[in-house]
Amino acid sequence: MDRYAVVGHPVEHSKSPYIHARFAEQCHQPVTYGRLLAPLDAFLPTVREFAGSGARGCNVTVPFKFEAFAAAAQASERAQLAQAANLLRFDADGRWFADNTDGAGLVHDLQHNAGLELAGRDLLLIGAGGAAAGVLGPLLQARPRRLVVTNRTLDKARELVQRHAALALAQSVELQAAPLDDCGRGHHLVINATASSLQGGAVPVAGQVLAPGALAYDMMYGPPAAAFLAWAAEHGASGRDGLGMLVEQAAEAFAVWRGVRPQTQQVLADLRAGRG
Ligand code: ATR
Repeated sequence: MDRYAVVGHPVEHSKSPYIHARFAEQCHQPVTYGRLLAPLDAFLPTVREFAGSGARGCNVTVPFKFEAFAAAAQASERAQLAQAANLLRFDADGRWFADNTDGAGLVHDLQHNAGLELAGRDLLLIGAGGAAAGVLGPLLQARPRRLVVTNRTLDKARELVQRHAALALAQSVELQAAPLDDCGRGHHLVINATASSLQGGAVPVAGQVLAPGALAYDMMYGPPAAAFLAWAAEHGASGRDGLGMLVEQAAEAFAVWRGVRPQTQQVLADLRAGRG
């Protein structure tokens, strides 16, 4: 069996072991996948020990995505843009390869599961931390007309926009940073990539950012997504939580490790039905 795990702190509630077990079964791959709690000050020793024991790779979750990227010898282009990794692959030569499948997972969930075409649309991304950095590149690659990044700390949004300026230009996307109280109105898609709900904070933008019929997407799922989804409903928008993104980023990760992308529909339906 080839061993993988999700490394994080906390990690006990992660649904990744369930998702990857389903994928392994479906694709007939000899994969086992567990959970690994890393002490906050010992991410690297924890992963080194896991890799040294013959494991093949790991997913990385909060708060270690930046450390994982920094620790790898090689990184995909999308991980380099994000400066953060949600997966490591331990290669046969002993080197670690870092990748970030969060953005691909989000875009796949939006376009295939939610049926939202991103090309030509106006998007608002709220947040400029690790979660936002992980998805901006793939969102630009879907070629929206305009993408505004807004954040409580405006300088962080500006830095993120600056780092993605060349990609935006190449994709002909109008990419801007803007303050929370002046981030435009009438966006077709508004994505919440902040941690504000975890701290009991209100949605930090006005309802007018939503176009009629807009989709409001929270990258979290379960109770942390509830306030944002309630805000969306209050303003007449559709809401979607990040459960589909979770499953799709896992399918992308499985493909990076195993060379085959699993079907996701049934696994997502089962998670929505409370299994897993
Ligand atoms: P993550 O990796 O989950 O993105 P992070 O890097 O700490 O975590 O980023 C958290 C994001 O949520 C940031 O965009 C943060 O805004 P700042 O950059 O100004 O800190 C945002 N955030 C957290 N609490 C918030 C609140 N109460 N209101 C608005 N934005 C908030």
